[in-house]
Amino acid sequence: MKKIMELITEELAEAFQAAGYDKEYAKVTLSNRPDLCEYQCNGAMAGAKAYRKAPVMIANDVAAGLEGSRCLEEVNVVNPGFINLKLNREYVAEYLNQMCADENMGLKTAEEPRTIVVDYGGPNVAKPLHVGHLRSAIIGEGIKRLARKMGHKVLGDIHLGDWGYQMGLIITELKERKPDLPYFDEGFGGEYPAEAPFTIGELEEIYPTASGKAKDDEEYRREALKATYLLQNGHKGYMAVWRHIMNISVEDLKKNYASLNVHFDLWKGEADAQAYIPDMIDRLKKEGYAHIDEGALVIDVQEETDTKEIPPCMIQKSDGASLYGTTDLATLIQREQDYQPDQIIYVADKRQELHFLQVFRAARKTGIVPEGTDLAFLGFGTMNGKDGKPFKTREGGVMRLENLIAEIEDEMRRKIAENRTVAEDEADETAKIVGMSAIKYGDLSNQASKDYVFDVDRFTSFEGNTGPYILYTIVRIKSILSKYQADGNGLEGLAIRCAQNDSEKALMLEILKYNDVMETAFEELALHKICAYIYDLANVFNRFYHETKILAEEDETKQKGYIALLILTRRVLEACIDVLGFTAPERM
Ligand code: ARG
Repeated sequence: MKKIMELITEELAEAFQAAGYDKEYAKVTLSNRPDLCEYQCNGAMAGAKAYRKAPVMIANDVAAGLEGSRCLEEVNVVNPGFINLKLNREYVAEYLNQMCADENMGLKTAEEPRTIVVDYGGPNVAKPLHVGHLRSAIIGEGIKRLARKMGHKVLGDIHLGDWGYQMGLIITELKERKPDLPYFDEGFGGEYPAEAPFTIGELEEIYPTASGKAKDDEEYRREALKATYLLQNGHKGYMAVWRHIMNISVEDLKKNYASLNVHFDLWKGEADAQAYIPDMIDRLKKEGYAHIDEGALVIDVQEETDTKEIPPCMIQKSDGASLYGTTDLATLIQREQDYQPDQIIYVADKRQELHFLQVFRAARKTGIVPEGTDLAFLGFGTMNGKDGKPFKTREGGVMRLENLIAEIEDEMRRKIAENRTVAEDEADETAKIVGMSAIKYGDLSNQASKDYVFDVDRFTSFEGNTGPYILYTIVRIKSILSKYQADGNGLEGLAIRCAQNDSEKALMLEILKYNDVMETAFEELALHKICAYIYDLANVFNRFYHETKILAEEDETKQKGYIALLILTRRVLEACIDVLGFTAPERM
């Protein structure tokens, strides 16, 4: 379906043309004086110069042509030349009924679907997930869902950090504790055990212990670096340990991400890119893209138009080791080979912006990525505690994701128990569902690039701009609908009717914007716009609810119209929260 803004613009374009003006001036926007009108067109002011006419005269000419318009109910010209518009109620109802009949509620999906890889999550294997990874997971999942909703073919790739120094640390510590394991016997020729020599609990203890030791003990650190080097060069025993670490960690990660309703299509990682590195480096050297600079192999990425210095992209250290950028370039080769993506969207901490700028430029310059492929970086800010510093536990340590989720759920359980609307055996499940909305909405309602304060009290509140408030609104609608059904009525075949009053029309006007909001959010990769929209929608719905007798309405046709409107409101809200990655309970 065409967006309502397009439809009004078309109408205005016709009127401009009919009055002898260029239709380019017929640009319609949402009103910035909602007390006066719903939409407005400022084109008369814009055209005044070209036509050497007072804007108000142009506006009057256009307004005259809009008389009898099907989609507009009121057209007012206001000095110096604003054209203020109000939508026709019947037209609005008709549009909404078309939305009802469409599975996608008027959202136009891509005619030529693109293949999009979303690179998000990016946890580092064997280190516990912490809140730093929360944002990438939440935002990336939302972007993936939104792109899919727009009809694209989308692959979410977790891009594990699974090939670094932390692996060498774990191997070193394990060797110290259990030197007799076959992985450390250089002469071992048999099959390595299928069973891992540690549990996830042990693994999570081994890493910080080893990391602590390496900081204090230079000898130990060298051992760990050597183990990393040997692993990366295919040491058989270390590879076997690495596989154990991977199996155990990935299983645990899957569980953790599932509890956040985050799901990846691809579980690839930095290790998968290694196979592509040697050939890549050879080619880049041979074709003259890479050169040695202070011992390291680099690709220059500075461009003439840069106003500041952009350091070269390093792809090999003097000791032959590869770097973060090397892996990302090699991953691009692998992605191109396997999926030929039209776009890759990286969701990572905004402090990595320079890294991605270097990688993107290097990839383009060297032809690793074809010209038409769009590389996008969606950088996010820091999640802070109430003290304005990066979020920590009460003891000042790194907050683990699990604990953070548990904290929110406890608070939710307390609030839900207070409300007494949910049976005890349902309370845990409800707390989980509502808790998820608190965390995700709390994050996504902020523009991604901004830092924000993780405030448990505010995020879990049932009032204000919060996830629970949105869910509360959906639950309210669900409850009215089930009462309506319990009275023996069906929900099928109902039609939305002309708005009877201001609050009903306000609700309708908000629903109308659905396709526009989704499209814009996708174009700008701006999930906060969906949050802002459902907050507005929830507000206008609640105003309508307070001003309208719905279940008590005696006029059956009128009542049916309300019910149809409620069903559509609920569908829109649910489609939006589905993109944001959470769901609504039956009661709360
Ligand atoms: N593992 C990285 C980190 O923890 C994030 C990975 C982001 N994705 C990428 N392709 N570099 O910082």
